[in-house]
Amino acid sequence: MEKELLKKEDRDIFDAISNEERRQKEKLELIASENFVSESVLEALGNVMTNKYAEGYPAKRYYGGCEFVDIAENLARERAKKLFSAEHANVQPHCGSQANMAAFFTFLKPGETFFGLDLSHGGHLTHGHPISFSGMLYNAVHYGVEKDTEVIDYSKLKEMAKEHKPKMIIAGASAYPRILDFIKFREICDEVGAKLVVDMAHIAGLVATGLHPSPIKYADIVTTTTHKTLRGPRGGMILCRQQYAAEVDKALFPGIQGGPLMHVIAAKAVALNEALQPSFIDYQRQVLKNAQALAFALVSRGYRLVSNGTDTHLMLVDMRPKKVTGKVAEKALDKAGITVNKNTIPFDPEKPFVASGIRLGTPAMTTRGMKEQEMEKIASFIDRVILSIENEEEINKIKEEVREFASSFKMFAW
Ligand SMILES: Cc1ncc(COP(=O)(O)O)c(C=O)c1O
Repeated sequence: MEKELLKKEDRDIFDAISNEERRQKEKLELIASENFVSESVLEALGNVMTNKYAEGYPAKRYYGGCEFVDIAENLARERAKKLFSAEHANVQPHCGSQANMAAFFTFLKPGETFFGLDLSHGGHLTHGHPISFSGMLYNAVHYGVEKDTEVIDYSKLKEMAKEHKPKMIIAGASAYPRILDFIKFREICDEVGAKLVVDMAHIAGLVATGLHPSPIKYADIVTTTTHKTLRGPRGGMILCRQQYAAEVDKALFPGIQGGPLMHVIAAKAVALNEALQPSFIDYQRQVLKNAQALAFALVSRGYRLVSNGTDTHLMLVDMRPKKVTGKVAEKALDKAGITVNKNTIPFDPEKPFVASGIRLGTPAMTTRGMKEQEMEKIASFIDRVILSIENEEEINKIKEEVREFASSFKMFAW
């Protein structure tokens, strides 16, 4: 790491950044919502646009001197529209939760009813959990997956919608490994007169490359993060039909946020341009191939996957057959340099802080250039750790092997 000035002026922060850089290089990053951005995205993130106030939208700002940040925001908007074939894009949300909040502000008044996927069945906090604004301000009704299949039953969802008559349904998830049927969600919304909001945060990169069906034609508003499979800087984005453009823009600014983070918007533009290149399709194809390879290698070692597999970049591993909780597995894997998160599985007998499962994803390791054979190797590391959970010496040995293995890959191979 260069950053000579920072090293001289603020050694503590310099050290924290250097250590984080080393952690990312030496460990196996399997958190499904994380990825590694390109050097160009990093360069665009650390720039003087952080100095600029630009409340408003391009050409309609509340501050002078916005001619260059306007160029960045217009490029980000145009690239997002092109990538997803969307009529309107708002690239200002500071994060995915704020993008979701803007969708709520656009379609619901406080107290009104909406549907979201239960957090413990794969949904996100902002889909109606009582500790989130979405559960505090609105009447959240949750749908879930079936106990036997562990997937959404759309005919049951339709019956529920007829009973509760929600004004809005959110489709989207943080831990649902199967394809979401946006056509069915649309049909259900039309039947009860609800708006459809699709939160594609996890699958945006797959959607951008046609490897997951696109929600754009079916949803009234699509929200996303830009930092997961889309492989951009940390942030959010909203796509919608032109008919909702003015309301969405107003809901976000001045409704929720003040000045946009113009340096982040510049980096979003760079990432969106990368996502428009043919190599991004190859990358996403490899993400899916790697998820299949990792799933197969785990199942062949006796692990159970929720819904028996995956169609996407992530999988939920039920650790109960191995007699360990998600919490214990996460901690042991971390000691060996394998970063995962514990995750509840549907109908989990454990509390969320303990959880019976772990969630694994392939976007970050695929960015580093790993392919199917490396997924087999990763599954064998995971299995060895789980089999040696009480054996510090063996875990330390695996840690060394993981460090050597992970360090032999570039941070960004595409
Ligand atoms: C489906 C989904 N929506 C929204 C978010 C929120 O994104 P952020 O953490 O940027 O607020 C997440 C984050 O994990 C997510 O998985």
